[in-house]
Amino acid sequence: MSTFRPIRKIVFPAAGLGTRILPATAVLPKELMPIIDKPVIQYGVEEAVASELTQIILVISPGKTIVEDHFSEHLALEKRLEQRGKASLLDGLRAVVSQIHLSTIIQHEPLGLGHAVLMSHALVGDEPFAVLLSDDVIDSAPPALGQMLAVYDQVNSPVLLVERVPGDVVDRYGIIDGEPLGHGIYRVKDLVEKPALADAPSDLAIIGRYLLTPDIYPALQETGQNSSGEIQLTDGLRRLLQHRQVYALELDGVRQDTGNKIGYLRAILYFAARHPDFADIMQTFVQTSQSPEATD
Ligand code: UTP
Repeated sequence: MSTFRPIRKIVFPAAGLGTRILPATAVLPKELMPIIDKPVIQYGVEEAVASELTQIILVISPGKTIVEDHFSEHLALEKRLEQRGKASLLDGLRAVVSQIHLSTIIQHEPLGLGHAVLMSHALVGDEPFAVLLSDDVIDSAPPALGQMLAVYDQVNSPVLLVERVPGDVVDRYGIIDGEPLGHGIYRVKDLVEKPALADAPSDLAIIGRYLLTPDIYPALQETGQNSSGEIQLTDGLRRLLQHRQVYALELDGVRQDTGNKIGYLRAILYFAARHPDFADIMQTFVQTSQSPEATD
């Protein structure tokens, strides 16, 4: 087994087109769409910080620098809020910003998730790293990344996060063929990208968290573009499997896929129902199916 190296860096690919939520994403990156009062990507960054991954590498498209801006210091706004006695409104964001070190890479063309990860090589270098797809907002304790890091510490090899999905949606995911090792851990024998139900080796779908070793970079280079001109991360992982063990961990928690309209709506309802300010009003809303009164 190779020398153990801890994971310190986390890549947030955020250069996709977000076509499934158009027209909202025509100008606004989907990463900044709010769930109640917090942008989707902030949930992911908070999960990373809670898992002690504070060196964050954002991969963004040329027009999306406002994703980076969200995590900068907001001095003018803070000053105005202070004058109005409302400085605490930014406490949560300020706490996150103070704990992270953020770097940004531009992916000039949306050539796929694998390509976005490949772009991070210059900043990640020759060390293991995490990847978080912020579409997947996960409610769990311990945080999903923390659950995965505990496995990584044992196996010193790539760890993918998986979740059981209904048969009618296996064709939307990368599906693993895994040998169960107990405690929700699997040794990955094979991966199939978006299989038909009849060809799916299991119902264990890869979701938006990956712990990777730096040999994924040459694997992605060798994989190259598919027929759609994209480099897929699953294809790179498949190539990696040829010469190293890859593991998967079944999520212990609740995932909301905010990357499509129904999932985004569900995420808002889920978090509103658990929010101290809105839980009651949500219950009333569900019971009466009437719009609750505004509570500004
Ligand atoms: P998606 O499959 O959700 O694609 O990407 P998308 O373009 O963002 O959205 P749709 O399908 O058009 O609605 C999965 C993740 O990979 C990133 C996305 O930002 C998202 O976090 N990604 C995808 C990139 O960073 N670059 C790409 O070229 C493609």
